[in-house]
Amino acid sequence: MSSQDIPEENLPAESGAAHGAVGVADEHNPFADPGLPPHEHRIQDIDERAAKRSERTVALLFTVSMLATLGFIASYVWIPNDKSIFIWPLGHISAMNFALGLTLGVALFCIGAGAVHWARTLMSDAEIADERHPIEASPEVRAKVHADFKQGAKESAIGRRPLIRNTLLGALTLVPFSGLFLLRDLGSLPHEKLRHTLWAKGKRLVNMNTNQPLRPEDIATGSLTFAKPDGLEENNEDFQNEIAKAALMIVRLQPDNIKDKRELEWSHQGIVAYSKICTHVGCPISLYEQQTHHVLCPCHQSTFDLSDGARVIFGPAGHALPQLRIGVDSEGYLQALGDFEEPVGPAFWERG
Ligand code: FES
Repeated sequence: MSSQDIPEENLPAESGAAHGAVGVADEHNPFADPGLPPHEHRIQDIDERAAKRSERTVALLFTVSMLATLGFIASYVWIPNDKSIFIWPLGHISAMNFALGLTLGVALFCIGAGAVHWARTLMSDAEIADERHPIEASPEVRAKVHADFKQGAKESAIGRRPLIRNTLLGALTLVPFSGLFLLRDLGSLPHEKLRHTLWAKGKRLVNMNTNQPLRPEDIATGSLTFAKPDGLEENNEDFQNEIAKAALMIVRLQPDNIKDKRELEWSHQGIVAYSKICTHVGCPISLYEQQTHHVLCPCHQSTFDLSDGARVIFGPAGHALPQLRIGVDSEGYLQALGDFEEPVGPAFWERG
């Protein structure tokens, strides 16, 4: 088949302008514009039989879509809505829902696939360069809009009727305030609530898994122990809110390995207690590397060095993990010597 037989609207323009001007590199513009690659005709552009095949494929897809739509209607009318069927691997499901979903899915897919195939194989394949143009209106259009506005203001008589004008301004000013009241639905302000946790002087550290108060000898070197404040039980009404702030991880280090002076002072025999809540967006930290004393947050890989004040050594967290000052009580149990001195959790909260 010769190119004379190709429908004219399908043949792309071959001029240099259609492919964009090819730039030349020079000292002011070291990157030459390579222009567009030479246009290649599709098989449908040069072979009428291939074009017919594509046409039939598109028509077939649209026909299947019509049949699927009829199937959808038939499913809705004839399938009882309490009938269930077994479909592997979904198990037992409603026959009507399955049929409706399947037929509607096929109907929509075939319309989309037909349209895409039509566009890719049969619609015009000309490459067109659309130059950018200024988006501001022309001076004539601006003048007309201005004149129309003045004309509208004049016809509305807003200048001659100050009562209407003033009440309209009042109404327009007040109406956005109604949105402000909807903010009440966000609940009461947190005030100091997020700055404090259940930890307080004398509060024992309780193992989160065994629910037993911890002694220093329970903390083995190299292990990571999770703790909660004594008295906080899962059946407490506010358990989730409180544990989200008070969750603690405890590690025993060799005191000689602790680089941060304050960390050493706040530890007990090398046992350090840090907030378990990542300061990035609040995931619970759970991975400990005992050789390096690094803990890793599994969410976005923030890494904290527990031997150096839990400072961030990698990842998006913006602050070190807050440390809890600990000691032992008269019965030899680990206890807090106060609350955290800074808010726990995500760094976006004002840290004062
Ligand atoms: S929440 Fe821990 S790194 Fe993002």
